[in-house]
Amino acid sequence: MDSSFVLAVLFLLLIPMASCSPPQEPVMCTHGSSGCTVSNAYGAFTDRTLCRAASVTYPRTEEEVIATVAAAASAKRKLKVATKHSHSIPKLACPGGHDGAVVSTARLNRTVRVDAASRLMTVESGMLLRDLTEAAAAAGLSLPHSPYFYGLTIGGLLSTGAHGSSLWGKGGAAHEYVVGMRIVTPAPASKGFAMVRELVAGDPDLDAAKVSIGVLGVVTQITLSLQPAFKRSVSFVKRNDTDFPEQVATWGRLHEFGDITWTPALGVVAYRQDDRVDVSVPGNGVNELLLFRSTPTLEAIKARALEERLQQGNATDMARCEAVRREAATAERLGNGFTNDGVSFTGFPVVGHQHRMQASGACLDSPEDGLATACVWDPRVRGTFYYNTAFSVPLSKAPAFVAEMQKLRDLNPAAFCTAVDPRLGVLLRYVKASTAYLGKPVDSVVFDIIYYRSRTDGMPRVHADVVDELEQLALNKYGGLPHWGKNRDFAFDGAIAKYPNAGKFLKVKGRYDPEGLFSNEWTDKVLGVNGTPSVVEKHCAIEGLCVCSEDSHCAPELGYFCRPGKMYKKARVCSFQPSGHRGGWQKPA
Ligand SMILES: Cc1cc2nc3c(=O)[nH]c(=O)nc-3n(C[C@H](O)[C@H](O)[C@H](O)COP(=O)(O)OP(=O)(O)OC[C@H]3O[C@@H](n4cnc5c(N)ncnc54)[C@H](O)[C@@H]3O)c2cc1C
Ligand SMILES: *[C@@H]1O[C@H](CO)[C@@H](O)[C@H](O)[C@H]1NC(C)=O
Ligand SMILES: *[C@@H]1O[C@H](CO)[C@@H](O)[C@H](O)[C@H]1NC(C)=O
Ligand SMILES: *[C@@H]1O[C@H](CO)[C@@H](O)[C@H](O)[C@H]1NC(C)=O
Repeated sequence: MDSSFVLAVLFLLLIPMASCSPPQEPVMCTHGSSGCTVSNAYGAFTDRTLCRAASVTYPRTEEEVIATVAAAASAKRKLKVATKHSHSIPKLACPGGHDGAVVSTARLNRTVRVDAASRLMTVESGMLLRDLTEAAAAAGLSLPHSPYFYGLTIGGLLSTGAHGSSLWGKGGAAHEYVVGMRIVTPAPASKGFAMVRELVAGDPDLDAAKVSIGVLGVVTQITLSLQPAFKRSVSFVKRNDTDFPEQVATWGRLHEFGDITWTPALGVVAYRQDDRVDVSVPGNGVNELLLFRSTPTLEAIKARALEERLQQGNATDMARCEAVRREAATAERLGNGFTNDGVSFTGFPVVGHQHRMQASGACLDSPEDGLATACVWDPRVRGTFYYNTAFSVPLSKAPAFVAEMQKLRDLNPAAFCTAVDPRLGVLLRYVKASTAYLGKPVDSVVFDIIYYRSRTDGMPRVHADVVDELEQLALNKYGGLPHWGKNRDFAFDGAIAKYPNAGKFLKVKGRYDPEGLFSNEWTDKVLGVNGTPSVVEKHCAIEGLCVCSEDSHCAPELGYFCRPGKMYKKARVCSFQPSGHRGGWQKPA
């Protein structure tokens, strides 16, 4: 037994054995349903602050939602919807102030009705994507596009514009398939302080409500326009990245569910060749993305310990790149998480039912085993802890953007071994132009990256400048738009000005919730109502709260100084300058 194993066992023994391994709920209260804190699935919002709320309710019916909203509105109290697990990284699921009310949709999770003939399905907003796609399949229907993780609720994922990948039909965003919504908003005293607004297809307010970052009211029901059940056939085409810029422009047109994973350090691109096939085509394949599988806690702790060692100044880029090669080999051996029959991977193509292929999240169903297994990001375990940057670039500009990313990579390929977490690589997905006011204004490619985040406030990460530069390149030169449910705070600076219909959205918000009860400090900042998303203070650029403009925004005491980007000179990034300080890298105690 090595010492890290002993430590891990000791650590496990310290965890109360009553705790269970499915993710915990994000709202916790000290006195029954009052004196609460709200967090997200990672146990940390972008700014590492705790969210406090005075109370929480768990309505089971729309009537109970109306009562909750009326009570808050009559008292002019802030309120906000949280969901079963609350997976958004920015501080979205937190009521404004410190004594607001939380409305959880955890118990609003039923199917309301399914009309197989018209292919319409109405569900309550707190339903998990997993349950929704299963209920659809049971009625012979499919939701064509969704995010890749099924632990999200339909209400939550719509709110942030979540998506899969497609340029066909209406594209990869889930909100494109919404044709009706019921939403409970505050109302004047004469109307009892709360009212239900029913939005049907063609109602322009639907373009505000489909992607609302939760500021309009409580969505209780959602009606989706589905398609006849189908299967998908998936395989991967692996190539070097010489023609990656050209491929980006065309891949999404060739394959209905095509996406692309780039491993910049290795110069390899995996193109997902993913097409619809008839339900009669044989195959019972299942997509179980490795990152979303239930992981033995000891393994997660060990992996994190390795990550932390590789962050130290005495680790070499060679060792870091070795970790990337190992990860790539594992993913390849395990068919990128696909199995041909739900058990083992025997080769591509993998053919399976849409609801088993569109999303995964086996870690949600972790047995109640006292945290012996869990999602890798479960905050009760000292496992993985990462940032997730996700921004879209107009499809027309994506080839030029990719070519510039390659140029930056060519300056120091080894830096990308740690700058980008190899478990996701750089994931590219397609989303089409939307009528949703806070949806993508033009056909776009979304770039997703996860990367190391320290548990210590203000602690820099190795090769931090790489992602910082890429992000600023995308946001400032290519009109990039941050995903509403991911990213670090600074990425939202100026974002709202890039939405041509932001004004229309704010008008609807003004009508539905004139007092801004459903708004919090963060939504006021990102919507340009009050304040700006950036926080300028010591270490702010290390924490992703600002773009640095002076060294103190980085960590000069640890050798990280504010410098121009290596390729995109207009970027300002925290760059490690070994000669710029004395004493070498110091890992704090
Ligand atoms: C592991 C993982 C994988 C992911 N994969 C993808 C992906 O493949 N594609 C993608 O686009 N995104 C992805 N995301 C991001 C995710 O889609 C968003 O963060 C999503 O908003 C989270 O949904 P949630 O149900 O957890 O909602 P929450 O995070 O709880 O809520 C999000 C916002 O919606 C509001 N809200 C929720 N329900 C309602 C309601 N009924 N009425 C009014 N407001 C409401 C909340 O107040 C909050 O403002 C992923 C996130 C994680 C953690
Ligand atoms: C709703 O949630 C409860 C509690 O988590 C769960 O037992 C039930 O299966 C869910 N219902 C549906 C239809 O998903
Ligand atoms: C990339 O692959 C192509 C063939 O697909 C080949 O012609 C080319 O030489 C390769 N480039 C590199 C840098 O390996
Ligand atoms: C790196 O430094 C840490 C202390 O900072 C030490 O514990 C570790 O053994 C060193 N690793 C190598 C490979 O030298």
